[in-house]
Amino acid sequence: MKKRILSGVQPSGNIHLGNYLGALRNWVALQHEYESFFCIVNLHAITVPQDPAELAAKTRELARIYLAVGIDPKVSTIFVQSDVSQHAELAWVLNCITRMSELERMTQFKEKARRQRENVGVGIFDYPVLMAADILLYQADLVPVGEDQKQHLELTRDLAERFNRDYGETFRVPEPFIPPVGARIMSLSDPTKKMSKSDEDERGAIGLLDDPDTVRNKFRRAVTDSGMEIRFDQRRPAIHNLLTIYQLLTGQTREEIEAHFSGRGYAQLKSELAEVTIEFLRPLQERIRAVGDDELNRLLAEGAERARSIAAETYRLVKERMGLVGAR
Ligand code: AMP
Ligand code: TRP
Repeated sequence: MKKRILSGVQPSGNIHLGNYLGALRNWVALQHEYESFFCIVNLHAITVPQDPAELAAKTRELARIYLAVGIDPKVSTIFVQSDVSQHAELAWVLNCITRMSELERMTQFKEKARRQRENVGVGIFDYPVLMAADILLYQADLVPVGEDQKQHLELTRDLAERFNRDYGETFRVPEPFIPPVGARIMSLSDPTKKMSKSDEDERGAIGLLDDPDTVRNKFRRAVTDSGMEIRFDQRRPAIHNLLTIYQLLTGQTREEIEAHFSGRGYAQLKSELAEVTIEFLRPLQERIRAVGDDELNRLLAEGAERARSIAAETYRLVKERMGLVGAR
């Protein structure tokens, strides 16, 4: 039996190069080795207010993006989280074995809570428990994500182990897959922060749907470090970040890249990186546009059905283990 993968992205904000290089790209690479489930996590998206029409449109757009980056629906299952009711049901069960203190420790929660102060929703607090439910329902072995999700994965493992200990062996305990390069792509406008969908400063992130002029402008205005040399040097985070993007999009080695840019300036690096990115995005955007509505409907319906059959099996076992029975 093949091992399983589950991962997901929220259909909110603009999906960017960080999402692709940190997560989606690895899904594509791993999908033939593993039985794969790729979820569009719309229940996570509503932990902050969303416009309903826009959320629905973004959900479908993200499904198109999954296909366009190379997720093959013949081998992988693509589905929408809210189509499979067991995600919310298992999240409730897991809530009952999760401690407040565990969620209070989550850095992503602390950051969001700091930014919002007054009206921090319960959903934001509970976000990692729903994520654990996503993963454990499919008995995933591996969860390919960016570096920022590592702590959530540790919680998922803790909850799986706790449930197994208290109610009997039920869940597989998943491992994170965090890529050695690209796990944390930084903002172009502030290389101390990760590239993010929710950044107020739009120039920080290259959207997968950005047009060529936007891409050129964003790279042109990208922050650089003091110094001149174009080398992979951790102490110069801005240039390191630009070079990392270049490395992942061209597939060249660090030595080749340093040799190529030796004696050249930052302006040259930025303009070559912009062209490499534009040439990467062009066919991707064509494929996104080429996915038809009917095709998408069929795909998501099939995906939901396949996901449900596995989720239902796990959740039935959970209910049995916990004594959640009614009429017999
Ligand atoms: P999100 O944007 O929070 O829905 O993230 C979706 C996926 O992209 C997750 O696996 C994240 O870890 C990954 N990701 C988000 N931002 C970055 C980034 N700046 N660099 C690398 N991976 C990222
Ligand atoms: N929390 C993840 C993020 O913001 C998205 C997510 C939800 C996820 N459920 C998941 C990722 C399950 C991997 C597995 O990036």
